[in-house]
Amino acid sequence: MLRFPSECPDRMPISVNGKRLEVESGERLIDVLNRSNTAVPQVCYHPQLGPIQTCDTCMVEVDGKLARACGTLVSDGMQVVTASPRAGAAQREAFDRILGNHLLYCTVCDNNNGNCTVHNTTAILRVEHQEIPYSPKPYSVDLSNPFYRYDPDQCILCGRCVEACQNLQVNETLSINWEDPHPRVQWDGGAPIGESSCVSCGHCVTVCPCNALMEKSMLGEAGFFTSLPKAAIDGMIDVVKGIEPEVGYGAILELSEIESAMRQGQVKRTKTVCTYCGVGCSYDIWTKGRHILKVEPEHGPANGVSTCVKGKFGWDYVNSPDRLTKPLIREGEKFREATWDEALNLVARRFAEIKAEDGPDSLAFVSSSKCTNEESYLMQKLARAVIGTNNMDNCSRYCQAPATTGLFRTVGYGGDSGSIADMEQAALVVIIGANAAENHPVLATRVKRAHKLRGQKLIVSDLRKNEMAERADVFLRPRPGTDLYWISAVTKYIFDNGLAKQSFLDRWVNGVAEYRESLAPFTLELASQRCGLPMETLTTVARMIAEAQSMCVLWAMGVTQHVMGSDTSTAISNLLLVTGNYMRPGTGAYPLRGHNNVQGASDHGAMPAFFPGYQKVDDAEIRAKFEKAWKVTLPAKPGLDNHLMIDGIHDGRVKAMYVFGEEMSMVDSNANYVSAALAKLDFFVMQEIFFTDTCRYADVILPASPSLEKEGTFTSTERRIQRLHQAMEPLGDSRPDWRIVQDIANRLGAGWSYKNPKEIYQEIAPLTPLMAGVTYERLEGYKSLQWPVAEDGTDQPLLYSTKFNFPDGKARLFPVPWSEPSNQQDAEYDLHLNNGRLLEHFHEGNMTYRSEGIKAKTPCTFVEVSPELATERGIQTGSWVQLTSPYGKVRAQAVVTARVQGKELYMPMNSVEEPVNRVTSSYTDKVTHTPAYKETSVHLAVLGEKGENPLPRTNSRFGHPTPQKGVEVERKWKRQDYSQPGNELVQIKTR
Ligand code: SF4
Ligand code: SF4
Ligand code: SF4
Ligand code: FES
Repeated sequence: MLRFPSECPDRMPISVNGKRLEVESGERLIDVLNRSNTAVPQVCYHPQLGPIQTCDTCMVEVDGKLARACGTLVSDGMQVVTASPRAGAAQREAFDRILGNHLLYCTVCDNNNGNCTVHNTTAILRVEHQEIPYSPKPYSVDLSNPFYRYDPDQCILCGRCVEACQNLQVNETLSINWEDPHPRVQWDGGAPIGESSCVSCGHCVTVCPCNALMEKSMLGEAGFFTSLPKAAIDGMIDVVKGIEPEVGYGAILELSEIESAMRQGQVKRTKTVCTYCGVGCSYDIWTKGRHILKVEPEHGPANGVSTCVKGKFGWDYVNSPDRLTKPLIREGEKFREATWDEALNLVARRFAEIKAEDGPDSLAFVSSSKCTNEESYLMQKLARAVIGTNNMDNCSRYCQAPATTGLFRTVGYGGDSGSIADMEQAALVVIIGANAAENHPVLATRVKRAHKLRGQKLIVSDLRKNEMAERADVFLRPRPGTDLYWISAVTKYIFDNGLAKQSFLDRWVNGVAEYRESLAPFTLELASQRCGLPMETLTTVARMIAEAQSMCVLWAMGVTQHVMGSDTSTAISNLLLVTGNYMRPGTGAYPLRGHNNVQGASDHGAMPAFFPGYQKVDDAEIRAKFEKAWKVTLPAKPGLDNHLMIDGIHDGRVKAMYVFGEEMSMVDSNANYVSAALAKLDFFVMQEIFFTDTCRYADVILPASPSLEKEGTFTSTERRIQRLHQAMEPLGDSRPDWRIVQDIANRLGAGWSYKNPKEIYQEIAPLTPLMAGVTYERLEGYKSLQWPVAEDGTDQPLLYSTKFNFPDGKARLFPVPWSEPSNQQDAEYDLHLNNGRLLEHFHEGNMTYRSEGIKAKTPCTFVEVSPELATERGIQTGSWVQLTSPYGKVRAQAVVTARVQGKELYMPMNSVEEPVNRVTSSYTDKVTHTPAYKETSVHLAVLGEKGENPLPRTNSRFGHPTPQKGVEVERKWKRQDYSQPGNELVQIKTR
């Protein structure tokens, strides 16, 4: 049902209630009516879902005939009447049918918050009494999902939830059994929600226009009377039913509107930005004191009404009893609580002593990709301007630095070249080494729906058959670490067969001849042998890429976390250049950023070689600019990155470290080596919200505040800068990170006086050409900016629209040779271990394990084993296995699944007890030192015991989706008891 907007902007006149309106060809009539403030009821219509046409409440007269305004496209000279007696009667008849499915008990309903569509339509239509009596459905309430419930008795069968699940989230779980005598919404065709394929993304709950689908966190909490015992509420509902014939709905609604207005005094709605992945979903979070009532997405520029389970339901960690609320100081093997003064004084004193004894480069700083831009800026300013070292990094070193390098080499900016909207409109999307449906779920929905509804083509290259691979038109399963080879071979084939975009290369690209020459070794034959891919598949892929009108390539850690991660990223960008897939909507390079603010942490200078905005620390002119602004002398030599910091500790160069919001002891590769380094530090400061594994090595632990307790900005994968606002006070004595960093700096004599993050940004913008025009005012509410932002506030959703970011405006093809992956299998370590995230958990799970619902769905990590390997080694689902590498051991239970094949294993990283990084190595990408996490060989030993499946039956992967076109309203229209309203005039009483 969802329609993509017309691309033809022809304007034409129509008449609405006798008034002439200018409209665009292809517009929906309902959008025109809404834009012109013409009141028309519309229960099932949602602009982000498109016309569903189930409710019939939007009936209007079009050229003398009744028609649904949502399902009607405007045409030249169309005559529309919205308020004729005939249209009005049809609208009321349609709504009366809805009330037959829904009991109006607004005053004792948790959804009575001013935005209930059913309530508001009752008021708009001035309904006094209903003709069709309410009748409950013969089904019970479904409470089996941990996060939301479905009440069939309140369900008006509008189908918004179905449309959202089928065609926006594209999980294809929901449907309505229209042919049943008592239709209802079904999960997997009739399973309990908690045992279905539902991924708990919450789209359905968000778009439900009434209380049929509701967040459990709202129930009994949102209203003044809704926490009363059920018997009392039932009694009140009976009273309302009893007086309705006498007083009418008007008086009853007035009472409920008073109660709704009173709620505003206790319910706070705060716009925030998701703190999990890099998609950058933004939404209102509703709170009552510290209780989180719900997350309500609607206006997010990246996500609209979309979320995934983490953003919608994964906020329990904020109120976890495990939160750190007091500074802690080590005493022997234990920690004791301390005052802020004592802790901060100790930190400042030890930093000053170590600097005096061993020099500024004996200290190292790691900023958090979970924290704000302003906080990363202050952290690097502390390192550079106060301590005097460039030993400053963030976790982009672990994931995205190679992608940034590939883009710096070829096109000049280290960021996505367009927006999620470009991915949606591309003719072809290629995903390489990225599990987007689990790691960037909302972004993946846009690709899934373009693929499902618009015929977008999809090529996926991955070791593992993930959801996007299941959906792909072509799925490649290359040998680990060989993507560079097939990408270069496909590029060579395109050149050799005259399929390159020569006019684009001539006008916009340097180094074509040298690059083409460098491709000589990359024949399809050799690619086929090295990568283990059939020649025909490679030819098909090359042809699809060359013939596509527009192509976006998405990639992530399956590419970057290899010794040749930078080179493979470069090869991707080379391919995009050769095929002319830059500089246009629907094209470009998209390295998918992992953390919510990993892009922003790098953009704002938390890197060893760059000031904010990727300005080089070894450029004298740039340094002079920062020296003048900060009134200090700055170090000229680039500092140590994360990886070298650990080596530096081992070899005695680094004595002290200050880390915030980063679980280094587990997320760094070769975790045992990293932990041993942390244990060696003379002085280690951790700033965290929980006592994490890394905290065990600290000397001082400073309690910080998560995003809901502070102001600031995040930058998402689209280079989109968005503001987050404070929803609640910091818990206990915890403090926002920017305040803590400032307090330390001032104890070291910095003299900073930032009163809030806005003042910090006012310092950043003039120093950073990339962000010159970023102001808090320009980011008010749901406004956002995609860098680079000119001083006048002009931003660039599409990079390179007029030139590439090099002095001559041209891109550069950058030859990249083949290099073998490290750490390959041998007789002892004979299996390849892949690793990554799971949909439900973020990384090791420090935040997500604090959500009981998430924990129930995915309680622990596990090892995926292919059916063939399971047979060979006698492994069953539930068998305990031990994986050993030269670096360490981990134990986990096996899950036998065809998602992996042959000698491939996959272990999700969500474990604090058995982190996969105990077995990963210290090999790194040659250019950026990003660990080669994906190049790990292990020996597998089957342990004696066998337990249950580590994934409970309630995990969504065991469900059975029911894909269909959408709501399939035509099936409703075929029912014997259906007739279009307005055909038989029903007199509904109104005020
Ligand atoms: S996947 Fe589940 S939560 Fe998401 S829209 Fe579908 S039914 Fe609703
Ligand atoms: S549960 Fe679905 S069909 Fe029922 S009222 Fe809500 S959105 Fe409409
Ligand atoms: S897709 Fe990413 S940003 Fe959006 S809600 Fe999920 S975790 Fe948050
Ligand atoms: S709003 Fe048009 S049919 Fe429901």
